[in-house]
Amino acid sequence: MSDPTASLAALSLSGPGGKVVVNTAVVGEWEDAKAAYTGPKLSRRMWENENHAKMEGLDYVFRTTYDDEANPTGMINLGMAENTMLTKDYLEYYGKVFSKALRPNDFTYGTQGSASKRFHKAVADMWNENFSPLTPVQPDDIATAPGATGALDQLFNVLADSGDAVLIAAPHYNGFDANMVVRSGAQIVNVYGPPPEIAFTTPGAEIAAFEKAMEDCKAKGINVRAILLCSPQNPWGRTYSKEVLLDYALFAEKHDIHLIADEIYALSVWDNPKIPNSPPFISMLSLDVEKETGNKFDKSRLHIVYSFSKDFGCNGFRLGVIISQHNPLVIRGLLHISFVAKLGSIGDALISHLINDKPVFKALVAKNIQALRDSSETMAAFCEKQGWKPVPVNSGHFMMVDASNLGFKDMEEERDFGRLCVEFGVGVGLGQSYHALTPGWLRLTHTYEPERLNLALSRLGKAVEAWRSRA
Ligand SMILES: Cc1ncc(COP(=O)(O)O)c(C=O)c1O
Repeated sequence: MSDPTASLAALSLSGPGGKVVVNTAVVGEWEDAKAAYTGPKLSRRMWENENHAKMEGLDYVFRTTYDDEANPTGMINLGMAENTMLTKDYLEYYGKVFSKALRPNDFTYGTQGSASKRFHKAVADMWNENFSPLTPVQPDDIATAPGATGALDQLFNVLADSGDAVLIAAPHYNGFDANMVVRSGAQIVNVYGPPPEIAFTTPGAEIAAFEKAMEDCKAKGINVRAILLCSPQNPWGRTYSKEVLLDYALFAEKHDIHLIADEIYALSVWDNPKIPNSPPFISMLSLDVEKETGNKFDKSRLHIVYSFSKDFGCNGFRLGVIISQHNPLVIRGLLHISFVAKLGSIGDALISHLINDKPVFKALVAKNIQALRDSSETMAAFCEKQGWKPVPVNSGHFMMVDASNLGFKDMEEERDFGRLCVEFGVGVGLGQSYHALTPGWLRLTHTYEPERLNLALSRLGKAVEAWRSRA
């Protein structure tokens, strides 16, 4: 998998209208493969799924991944939200507790149709101890899935029919484009509201854009089934104020749609003096919407998505949950798919053990927050040195950076820069992948341990130099 053309092409995959090409040297282009197919009939779903080529691009990105021993020239991907800063701590901890954490039942099909009873109880406890839900979360309020990716996929299979729309503030996490769409056939409507300095804290501002989007959908005959709140937000790395969260709830109530809150970065939040008065993380489950606003709010429309990928640096464990406290039918409806994609017991056992080991849990969360603060400062300083403008963050694993001084005249040039970075062994998140409307935005992940982050930044610095000195 070392064909450079393919690695360049892999990064062109997400540009709107950009040609999707993957590792053509190995597997050929998806469209050509379809055209050449002469085998027995395949499902219509498979032919109509436009996500295949994109996934193959992503697959290629994974295959090039850096490893300090096995693949030191591989790509360090600043375009992917991975947090490896505490990996050594987790390895040491899980190594010590492994045989205690695993129970004999972990070698069987387990203790219920979804993940283990132990995992459901641990997640409920964690939620109750950290996020002040209005009503304590019960183990049976939870459905499980392989990561938030799986949770969104499964949830939309239950909530939406083909063609139904979900409204999301843009720019947004690019995984949403596939996760909620591929299986359910739902569609995403990107909603462009005010800039971040207004959107996250000014009541009424972002929601005005949603009202407009709702009108547009109605005019086009599109049935809107849900609004998705990403809190803290990806890619802006910002938390929402209580007032704006209440706006989301009232909007969902007014239009009788579901409100999905993706709270995957709930514990990856810190104070940044560059954002004075930035709100702490507030879980949607903690809000008494009716009391706060004097308006009715049917809580059966609220579903939380969470996973252990981010706050606990274990994307690879694939542990995701849906918490729906007031809609038991949704949880029951999820059981079938939860079973088909049942969580493996090893991650379930290790994370449950960690949650129950309160002092270690607390210490690692605190250590992670300090590491996030430090690594975000390193990244911001690097960007400023390039003459870029990093938008201040107080959460998440990345920051949006105005790198317009790179002078991209269009999105194609932005993609060219992405390809050039890959040649230098570093991946960057191109603004267009997150639906930024103008070229020149990068989303850069900072959550690598200092050595790896510095190596990535040195590679990025060289790519920038090469870009600036190109003929
Ligand atoms: C907002 C958001 N939701 C969901 C996901 C998917 O996470 P998981 O690894 O749990 O599938 C990500 C990953 O980057 C994310 O940023």
